[in-house]
Amino acid sequence: MSILSSKNILLGISAGIAAYKTASLVRAFIKAGANVKVVMTPASKDFVTPLTLSTLSKNPVHSTFYNEDDENAEWNNHVELGLWADYLIIAPATANTLSKMANGTCDNLLLATYLSAKCPVYFAPAMDLDMYKHPSTKNTFTTLQSFGNIMIPATSGELASGLVGQGRLAEPEDIVTFIENDILGKLPLKGKTILITAGPTHEALDPVRFIGNHSSGKMGFEIAKASASLGANVILITGPTNQQVNHSLIQVVPVVSAQNMYDAAHTYYKNVDVAILSAAVADYKPKEISNKKIKKSDTTFVLELEKTKDILASLGEVKQKQLLVGFALETNNELEYAKGKLKKKNLDLIVLNSLKDKGAGFKSDTNKVTIIDKEFNIKAYELKSKAEVAKDILREVINKLDA
Ligand code: CTP
Repeated sequence: MSILSSKNILLGISAGIAAYKTASLVRAFIKAGANVKVVMTPASKDFVTPLTLSTLSKNPVHSTFYNEDDENAEWNNHVELGLWADYLIIAPATANTLSKMANGTCDNLLLATYLSAKCPVYFAPAMDLDMYKHPSTKNTFTTLQSFGNIMIPATSGELASGLVGQGRLAEPEDIVTFIENDILGKLPLKGKTILITAGPTHEALDPVRFIGNHSSGKMGFEIAKASASLGANVILITGPTNQQVNHSLIQVVPVVSAQNMYDAAHTYYKNVDVAILSAAVADYKPKEISNKKIKKSDTTFVLELEKTKDILASLGEVKQKQLLVGFALETNNELEYAKGKLKKKNLDLIVLNSLKDKGAGFKSDTNKVTIIDKEFNIKAYELKSKAEVAKDILREVINKLDA
């Protein structure tokens, strides 16, 4: 999955011959999982049709503030479009449109949207060689970059005029890759590797039965997704769950038992920067595993259990540079027990859930947590979706990594 997945991309098209490439560009953004809307300058419609772009983007395409032919026309709200966008990409960006952007001119919907957008703005120039090299154009590039806009440089090659040199719009796939890399490079967990454990473990009794628990794995999967969207490489060691994830930065390592999870965690731990253990690991497992299905016989059946290894505590023992985060699920004396686990297991942070709190715990989509650090600073959070809780946890992780 691309870092652009689920992101809102507003593509602004200005009137250059390279506008014909925007059909492929819209497709490339859609392929990356983004939501795409298109705003065109009126003149760009001579080079590519709104119908093509609305069909590919699955959204209406706007080029004017309102449709003059329709007396019931609605105002195309540039402020709303600007606020909708996570990223505004102007491609192709002509010398004319770029110059107007640099000077705050606002004589069409695209320029009004540019002026009201608060999101990162990328511009991909496309123009003839001599226009590209002109000092005025160079000034424009510098001015726009001084505003924080990001330039996707034109490439060299044969231009529509027949001249050969710099001025060709970057290829659609390269524009997408450029933006993905730029976003990734600025993310706070870029270059960090995070190990996450999630879900329950299943402890076999015989070939058809196991002891398990109700953990859905949702909390761990949300932490994995949030980590990846902040740029981390994620190793997600998960017990059996129905959760699914598909992201280029997330490597899923499926396991079944506590022992499998222990082995996988130790295999990867040496090379990670952060480990967050959210799995609901079985504390006990059957002492004997029958290799044949156990037949029913007597009215009672006694099962002998033995302790599993505590994965979190074992990682705490061999901890070097890693930031180690554990969870604590408690029903009473919550803070005291959580602080005890933090110290005993040599953790940097512990995330406490109390089963007393409504909406917290195993199966729900929400959670209410308190995060405690090594110095026993305590932060209590409201009831939130697990996706939001994941962000809170990672904010604390980033604070600790930066400290
Ligand atoms: N944990 C683990 N391996 C185990 C048991 C627990 O890694 N065999 C981890 C969990 O992933 C969680 C933390 O330890 O991050 C705390 O789990 P919890 O069940 O609250 O506590 P326990 O240490 O098992 O203690 P108790 O059940 O007695 O409260």
